[in-house]
Amino acid sequence: MFWPGRKVFLTGHTGFKGAWLSLWLRRLGAQVTGFSLAPPTQPSLFAAAEVARGMQSVFGDIRDLPSLRAALHAAGPEVVIHMAAQSLVRASYADPVGTYATNLLGTVHLLEAARGCPSVRAVVIVTTDKCYENREWVWPYREGDTLGGYDPYSNSKACAELATSSYRSAFFHPARFAEHGVAVASARAGNVIGGGDWAADRLLPDAVRAFGAGVPLRIRNPRATRPWQHVLEPLRGYLLLAQALVEQGPACDGAWNFGPDAGAIQPVEAVIAGFQEAWHASGGRPGVWMEDAGPHPHEAHTLALDCSKAAAGLGWRPVLSFSDAVRLTAAWYGRFLAGEAARELCLEQAEHYEAMVAAQAAH
Ligand SMILES: NC(=O)c1ccc[n+]([C@@H]2O[C@H](COP(=O)([O-])OP(=O)(O)OC[C@H]3O[C@@H](n4cnc5c(N)ncnc54)[C@H](O)[C@@H]3O)[C@@H](O)[C@H]2O)c1
Repeated sequence: MFWPGRKVFLTGHTGFKGAWLSLWLRRLGAQVTGFSLAPPTQPSLFAAAEVARGMQSVFGDIRDLPSLRAALHAAGPEVVIHMAAQSLVRASYADPVGTYATNLLGTVHLLEAARGCPSVRAVVIVTTDKCYENREWVWPYREGDTLGGYDPYSNSKACAELATSSYRSAFFHPARFAEHGVAVASARAGNVIGGGDWAADRLLPDAVRAFGAGVPLRIRNPRATRPWQHVLEPLRGYLLLAQALVEQGPACDGAWNFGPDAGAIQPVEAVIAGFQEAWHASGGRPGVWMEDAGPHPHEAHTLALDCSKAAAGLGWRPVLSFSDAVRLTAAWYGRFLAGEAARELCLEQAEHYEAMVAAQAAH
């Protein structure tokens, strides 16, 4: 077992993916220190699931290098997973400067702090599938494809990829691994769904709010396709990658895609149809949606990832089908709204997911 007792420094632990990962790492026995701003939403999974219980939770800003450095040194981790970000495309149009400050300069600060921290052996920088220059073609993107990004969010994540690549060349070069002892990788995942996301402008949180209030859900781009996956899928990818970096060093550095199988590359309207059905089946009142004609800022229409590298190099493959992912998400919200505890729901779904991973491995 790799994780018991392992010291992990996780940025973004108060966000949606960070809250799930903090709970899962604790379940796996790791010693977790989180560093983030306060939760970005109200309600939040961080508060609802009492994520701070059992870990060291530090509220701080990654734009402030001295405080980030102090927190990292105090934690003395072997593994660093960087997920703190301004994570929304539409918010990036409203605040491009703040988005670059957090997503680009914040990533540089994290790498700089890691450079001076002797305990660190592995750094995983979480970016996104949107970091590729989107050609609006049907072929899935591979790790070597050109980076780009039309909107400030996507582009700031491509910039974070370039900064990561520069730090790897200049300060954590594989050829000098014996001197610095640090392996650095980046992880690019698709749109995640799962219980406990309350972010603005995300499809299923918007659906939960609209269906719960009995008003039609307004959808911006119903025919846009995305690689949808349950939140636990890329999180397992990040954990396998971190473990590989510690165990194999620079042999596993570089960029890694973690996206779903082709069957989960679906238009927005298919996700919402599946969610309507699962939501109703788990006790929610029937929801309806309508197209919101806009005008809307530009968003990519077609996006898919090729994950052959993660399959070959890390043994990572998606475990949940598209409908499993939608069903688990609807069940989480349905049971939470019926009064069940968020923390236990997350831990139960993580346990169920681990069993599915074990079953996949046994085949
Ligand atoms: N949710 C998705 O569908 C998705 C898809 C691909 C990639 N990602 C990436 O995964 C990561 C986590 O996404 P999420 O959905 O949990 O996002 P989120 O918005 O729910 O959480 C973001 C986290 O970053 C923290 N944060 C923001 N600005 C900060 C700052 N200046 N200093 C310190 N902390 C700061 C927030 O407090 C929060 O903890 C992000 O890097 C995001 O870009 C998310």
